[in-house]
Amino acid sequence: MKSYLVTGPCRLQGTVTVGGAKNSVLKIMAASLLVPGEVTIRRVPAITDVFLMAEVLERLGATIDFSDGVMVIDSSGDLSEEAPYELVTKMRASIQVLGPLLARLGRARVSMPGGDAIGSRPIDLHLQGLERMGAKFTSEHGYIEGVSDRLQGTRVLLEFPSVGATENILMAAATASGTTTIENAAREPDIQDLAAFLVAAGAEIEGAGSPTIVVQGVPELHGLTHEVIPDRIETGTYAIAAAATQGEVTITDCRPDHIELPLQKLSDCGAEVNRRDDEVTVKMSRRPDPLDLVTLPYPGFPTDLQPMMMVLLSHASGPSILTENVFESRFLFVDELNRMGSHIRVEGHHAVIRGIERLSAAPVRVPDIRAGAALVLGGLCAEGETQVHEVWHIERGYENFEVKLEGLGAQIQVIE
Ligand code: UD1
Repeated sequence: MKSYLVTGPCRLQGTVTVGGAKNSVLKIMAASLLVPGEVTIRRVPAITDVFLMAEVLERLGATIDFSDGVMVIDSSGDLSEEAPYELVTKMRASIQVLGPLLARLGRARVSMPGGDAIGSRPIDLHLQGLERMGAKFTSEHGYIEGVSDRLQGTRVLLEFPSVGATENILMAAATASGTTTIENAAREPDIQDLAAFLVAAGAEIEGAGSPTIVVQGVPELHGLTHEVIPDRIETGTYAIAAAATQGEVTITDCRPDHIELPLQKLSDCGAEVNRRDDEVTVKMSRRPDPLDLVTLPYPGFPTDLQPMMMVLLSHASGPSILTENVFESRFLFVDELNRMGSHIRVEGHHAVIRGIERLSAAPVRVPDIRAGAALVLGGLCAEGETQVHEVWHIERGYENFEVKLEGLGAQIQVIE
């Protein structure tokens, strides 16, 4: 199995370009099932999760062509209703085909996704929303089976602004009969991107990016071309990596306005942050100041950047408190980071980080995508050679991660 041997410490320096947003493109791919025509998606990153979603769509009957960042999906033929266990279990985001399949076929059979390394991840809000629109669900042998006549527009008030639930309901509402209003909707840029895709396909949607989204159902969507937004988590990862390694990195082709709070927190730690429209430079010349940080749904601090901030704060000149409010088990990787000498104590969903001068290299194991990026970052900051095992997790969400870091001066050897 593939590992990285990361030699530290190193100061990252130079320019890096980010790809299309993983969390956006996966949902846009699922939404293409709603379109009985050809969909062209640009700026598609070549990451494992994209290949997995492509496999799911192909199993459902779509044809896909993907090269040089451009994906063409044709779902105009007959579709199957079943997203099987062996694919859904590899990637939770496969659950996003539920709404489109119900809307297009009036039935869907999707394996229940189960939990993963960042915690229990129920889909009750997805199902409740679709039920309000007229779908009926049963669960048998590990599968959710849904049936519906044409879905009916209605008011859906989400108990929590779940990204996945908002997206499933938004996709289902696009071709439902009448008006659907989603309240307490997630406001992530991914939702705005999905809505922009659906609008380009002929849907009528207002308010995406705000807590209230209003969808006027249309009978049918049509083919289109769409470019995915830049990945804000990848952008934030390189921004935090610049600060943690006391380097200077310019990130191009990105949307600094999608990571306002992370950039503000980097400034609060003592980094110099210079932003232009589609570019941001982060420079750090000293140990970071400590700070308190709380993860929350967008525009709050993203849970997906929490592990990288943990690495940054593990070098701070005083104690910090980090509170995780979105995923219960997202601190599991702290035990790995502590193997590198950090002083982090976890109490429930709070982590108390006592800053130290420098981490020391140790073998570590990656539990999930974002913790994986954080552990590599730990290796870049640490003295010595850090072996990072099971880096396939990182490849699920980061395109050419080690190559891009090497471009910034990192020494990373890939061990097969
Ligand atoms: C998406 C992102 C993930 C990101 C997260 C929060 C993708 C593929 N993944 O995940 O990277 O960390 O948003 O920004 O886009 N919940 C329920 N019931 C539900 C749905 C969610 O209780 O039906 C809970 C979850 O357990 C979790 C919280 O709500 O505690 C947030 O989940 P959600 O916003 O749905 O995240 P995902 O869409 O799974």
